Amino acid sequence: MSDDKKLSNNAKGFSRGLTNYGDKDFSLYLRRSFAKSMGYSNEMLERPIVGIVNTASGYNNCHRGVPELVEAVKRGVLIRGGLPIDFPTISLGEVFLNPTSLMFRNLMSMDTEEMIRAQPMDAVVLVGGCDKTVPAQLMGAASADLPTIQLVVGPMMTGRYEGARLGACTDCRRFWADYRAGRVDTAQISAIEGNLATTMGTCAVMGTASTMACIAETLGLTLPGTAAIPAVHADRLRAAEATGAQALETARLGLTPSRLITEKSVENALRVLLALGGSTNGILHLTAIAGRRGIAIPLQRLNELSDSTPVLINLKPTGDGYMEDFHSAGGMGALLRELSPLLHLDCLTVTGATLGERLAAAPGYVDRAIIRGREEPFEAVGGLVALFGNLAPGGAILKRSAADASLFETTGRAVVFTSLEDLADRIDAEDLDVKADDILVLQNAGPKSPSGMPEAGYIPIPKKLAQAGVKDMIRISDCRMSGTAFGTIVLHVTPEAATGGAIGLVQNGDEIRLSISNKSLELLVDDTELERRRLSTPARPARPSRGYAKLYADHVTQADQGADFDFLMASE
Ligand code: FES
Repeated sequence: MSDDKKLSNNAKGFSRGLTNYGDKDFSLYLRRSFAKSMGYSNEMLERPIVGIVNTASGYNNCHRGVPELVEAVKRGVLIRGGLPIDFPTISLGEVFLNPTSLMFRNLMSMDTEEMIRAQPMDAVVLVGGCDKTVPAQLMGAASADLPTIQLVVGPMMTGRYEGARLGACTDCRRFWADYRAGRVDTAQISAIEGNLATTMGTCAVMGTASTMACIAETLGLTLPGTAAIPAVHADRLRAAEATGAQALETARLGLTPSRLITEKSVENALRVLLALGGSTNGILHLTAIAGRRGIAIPLQRLNELSDSTPVLINLKPTGDGYMEDFHSAGGMGALLRELSPLLHLDCLTVTGATLGERLAAAPGYVDRAIIRGREEPFEAVGGLVALFGNLAPGGAILKRSAADASLFETTGRAVVFTSLEDLADRIDAEDLDVKADDILVLQNAGPKSPSGMPEAGYIPIPKKLAQAGVKDMIRISDCRMSGTAFGTIVLHVTPEAATGGAIGLVQNGDEIRLSISNKSLELLVDDTELERRRLSTPARPARPSRGYAKLYADHVTQADQGADFDFLMASE
């Protein structure tokens, strides 16, 4: 039998998913012919294929190292006798997207899913890192369900300013707050701007990108020990090569995302999210990823786990350290080992080993200043808590590990901003009627709002209060907050104002009661008055009439469903 004939009988490599011309042999002949125009030999064309998702982009500073990583993945694939082929998808650079990167996460997930499914490959390596890219890739891969390994680009190194370590982006916010309050002048903030993000890689703290890298490793979808390797470290390239080398074995073992993303592994990922003091975005993204496999994450379950999962990691914005410290302190292996009595150890990983088998290896050095033991945690309970009440019947999220505990049991007067524009116009007005013990409320910034749930929940302290020394206030919104931010900030209020949620009915002067011990968020206005307000609320703004914005507005789900598109979620 000729080599060509052998290949046509084998639904691997280039013979997978043939283009439909009504004649399969012709389709394969044509494909091979066009592939040969790229210089491939017959021997290469017969190899199994590892697709590599290449997310390099001039609009994504965090992914500046992706081309080198892709080359290293290719080396690994070639070592094991595969054919590596990289292909582009959308790349989402967090700070370059308008109105907000979240709006394009679902688009990137569709791009990723469809290109994995449409093109011939036996396994896929996802190269991503910046905030929304890893969630998008894992959502897409979970739906496509081809053997998959995630490779993250790794975190940035810290910079220095006048002897102080700086890392994007917790320090970005700290210095900006100081600048607004007049403690830092214009020349200083300009110098700081040049030292916050000084290398390639993702934000240097336990923000959303790092949280999602750790979640991907916990789900078993990365090689062990690779989540926290800095972007510029040679180990990052070695991890890329090893990922490429592993990909065909992962395919041979049939380790598809549906075997790795299970109720148990999702629960493990929730434990890790809580123990990290991880990003509030982490719960949104994990819910969306799990939703692609029909796995629900009730926020009540988040609370149960949070009450029994200590914060063990001392990284900003919850603590003091940076991701490079986490890596040298022992990284995810050390954290998972500490959490192991709370984890489902029978979950599979991309290597074919279970989580328990992975953790059976010798523990190695652990820096207890960064990764604590369970018996001496940084916080006794988990970093996130869900709140419920008449202001958030579907739940809201507070990152208690990054909040001011003195505000945890508070009743305060609402100061309301009806939109992002209203917030920008009035927050610094001299005549704004606001006091330090008031509660700032931002409306109409949820998933279905025109702004698409931006990271605007970190409402600035009004300038006149900031200048008077106020550093934290209770802030409530239906939008999100950067994983690098801190403060007593209630987010993801569900349902959002744009769908008629009670947050849209709050008026200036209303009393709101926040109780972390009761996990409650109440608007102290009686039901009759709320109903009257509901009936007199002006018509909501018109939805977009075309294109992706219309698709988004028509189909995005609420925060408690992960803000995925309803038609992309798997049925449970
Ligand atoms: Fe890319 Fe922070 S901007 S991870």
